[in-house]
Amino acid sequence: MSTSSSPVKIAILGCGTVGTQVVRVLTEQQTDLSARVGADVEIAGVYVRDTSVTRDPVVPTDVLTSDVDALIERADVVVELMGGLEPARTMILQALNAGKGVVTANKALLATHGAELYEAADASGADLYFEAAVAGAIPLVRPVRESLAGDTVTRILGIVNGTTNYVLDEMTTKGLDYGEVVAEAQRLGYAEADPTADVGGHDAAAKAAILASLAFHQRVSLDDVYCEGITEITAADIEAAAETGHVIKLLAIAEQTSEGVSARVYPALVPNAHPLASVRGAFNAVFIEAEAAGELMFYGQGAGGAPTASAVMGDIVSVARHAAGGGHGPRESNYAKHPLLPIGGAQTRYAIRMSVHDKPGVLARVADAFARNGVGIGSVLQVPDAELASLIISTHRASEASLSATVAEVREMDSVGEVLSVLRIEGE
Ligand code: HSE
Repeated sequence: MSTSSSPVKIAILGCGTVGTQVVRVLTEQQTDLSARVGADVEIAGVYVRDTSVTRDPVVPTDVLTSDVDALIERADVVVELMGGLEPARTMILQALNAGKGVVTANKALLATHGAELYEAADASGADLYFEAAVAGAIPLVRPVRESLAGDTVTRILGIVNGTTNYVLDEMTTKGLDYGEVVAEAQRLGYAEADPTADVGGHDAAAKAAILASLAFHQRVSLDDVYCEGITEITAADIEAAAETGHVIKLLAIAEQTSEGVSARVYPALVPNAHPLASVRGAFNAVFIEAEAAGELMFYGQGAGGAPTASAVMGDIVSVARHAAGGGHGPRESNYAKHPLLPIGGAQTRYAIRMSVHDKPGVLARVADAFARNGVGIGSVLQVPDAELASLIISTHRASEASLSATVAEVREMDSVGEVLSVLRIEGE
């Protein structure tokens, strides 16, 4: 470990959009950062597979190296910004096993192999920081892991994927269909050429797993998170949501009830009056409910080189302070053993939109199916149409199992044309 008289050496693994910005800040702000850390901070090297590739001029060519073993060996702090499971996992374990503090932005790795990484950090007493893994620049991991460590978090509702929020927002404001918006977003570079991880909800699911683990003090991995993306959302769903005073948002939800812990991702109806409803474009926001704190909301840029580098730099300063002056950051808190609820065990409200024949007795028959399955109706909106009326039934809280049984019965009714959509309602 360095003392305040020897420099703290930072190794950066990966030199993409975020890595480049981290190198820029470390170079441009070296004097201030050193003063904040209490020891000189310097770049030990930047690991890239191919040192001959032309890079942004803010990255000095003499810091590039393809010898990752030697780089980790001479570093005090290892910053992993490559993404993906391997070789990131192996390199982080190598650093932790050698007692080097690690900073990573790798949500997929943490959500999949978090337990292994935490155990390696614990065994060697090394730091493991990952503020940038959830919602980019937004300070969220530290508030949940440290500031709220004395409170009881009951629920987190997060817009943690900028691409999908952008797509849903464009669909809402321009009345466009999903495919049109995604194609335009790809053309403008807002969405990846292969947007599956974003639109399928998998990126948000990794973040939900990390948040649930931190909030509820137990291990929740990607496999424990129920996940639905936004690919089935239509312009008609968005229009119908507006009819009942809602917007559709892809939410990452972590919830603790008397039955257990639930982590889930799906597009949901959010009331216009809820603070998450006003989160526009590619912005992220996370709404936290805690017993003593009440409601908290965190908002900002969830992606991009400089915003993500901001979160990475905060972690680098924390770990470098420990490297210079001793001490270490928070360890994993995983003492709790609440049951992890499958999606069938989660309770929420629903909006079911269907086309029905506008004849006497139809509403009574539909309502009867809800009653027989124990699903309470909160409100009914009927919008007349040329042949079939459109009916939107909002329920009280119900289990997925009861709701599915209700919808199956309704689908079979002669008086019902089609069940057009079943969406959950959150934030009410
Ligand atoms: N692809 C993510 C998003 C950012 O669209 O928000 C990185 O997690």
